[in-house]
Amino acid sequence: MTADPQPTLSGSELQHAVEQAVRRLQQGGLVAIPTETVYGLAADASNEQAVQKIFSTKGRPADHPLIVHLAAPSILDTLGNRSDAWFKLIAPWVRDLPEEAMRLVEAFWPGPLTLVLKKDKHVLSAVTGGQDTIALRSPDHPVAQALLQAFGGGLAAPSANRFGKVSPTRAADVSAEFSDQANLLILDGGDCAVGIESTIVDLSSGVPVLLRPGAITPEQIAQQTGVRVLQTGACADSEKITPRVSGSLKAHYAPNTPLRLYAAGAALDCISQYPDTKSHVALIVWDSEQMSDPQVLGASHIQQVTIPEQSDLFASRLYRLLRDLDDHSWDLIVMPEPPIGQEWDGVRDRLQRACFGSGPPVNNHVSS
Ligand code: TXA
Ligand code: MG
Repeated sequence: MTADPQPTLSGSELQHAVEQAVRRLQQGGLVAIPTETVYGLAADASNEQAVQKIFSTKGRPADHPLIVHLAAPSILDTLGNRSDAWFKLIAPWVRDLPEEAMRLVEAFWPGPLTLVLKKDKHVLSAVTGGQDTIALRSPDHPVAQALLQAFGGGLAAPSANRFGKVSPTRAADVSAEFSDQANLLILDGGDCAVGIESTIVDLSSGVPVLLRPGAITPEQIAQQTGVRVLQTGACADSEKITPRVSGSLKAHYAPNTPLRLYAAGAALDCISQYPDTKSHVALIVWDSEQMSDPQVLGASHIQQVTIPEQSDLFASRLYRLLRDLDDHSWDLIVMPEPPIGQEWDGVRDRLQRACFGSGPPVNNHVSS
């Protein structure tokens, strides 16, 4: 379902980089890996000290669980029964594998969908933040898959950003994020095609619940598998059945520049509410709707930047755009509110959190 990333490494370079990465992981080190969603900061999921390094490097609270990434079955394995091949890979990690989970796996793996399931007893508590469940996904990226195949175990990997900050969607973003970690090995897999983190569905409580919206929507899941995923907003008892998800903190994915969303046609109102009227403003507009308003064109402190009005393209550029804008000295970024519709829910979720947490660290609501 995702476009292939641009190949950045030739066949032999990739093999060499993967071998080096496997050695680093076996020694308990961290490796930044490309996935189709965002870059991840990976460690051997069975090595407690290695997993602890993820938390200290990111500055992430220890009770925020990690996703374990799994290799997809090899072509040979799938020649028999594809479903059996997936089952064999997943079963060692979980205590219970509901039939609905297998339907989601067959329809969407490898891909940007994470499943939360009851964990097997051998899974490290450091990985699951002390919870009784584990989050699993198999990424749809050739470099990640090559590494997972060669490594042969699960890789615990959160997004490769400092806690609460914008996730990286290319190798250079990871080095900028961890510029103080000179030894961090980063596998370059080009730009991430999806651009926002995976959809998370919790299947551990009997009722499939959406924990984080992403490129794969509940509508798509229902259409392709018949599984109905409850959106937490629609669940009266959501507080009780939703486990801790760091992406569910109000402030997350935050740029350093203040960010506001404007309703259709209300861009100038939004800008005028900002206290300093001469602030340098990056005004994001749909690519079909460049503004010809003289108040915008005549204002040297306002610059228009266009963004595509298709949800998948918007998602693939969102974090890149926020990082680029953050690198310039804008005082304010204003963006259009995403349209209604499940295909926009992932983007809307990230933008709302980004607005809440945006601004220089001193005003930032993120607690890390
Ligand atoms: O696309 C993605 O999912 C990326 C790439 C690298 O795979 N990873 C990612 O990881 O976004 P992270 O750690 O930034 O976000 C994972 C989310 C967190 O909000 C975490 O709380 C939640 O998954 N999570 C992990 N294990 C969980 C569990 N057992 N129960 C509920 N939520 C869980
Ligand atoms: Mg993250």
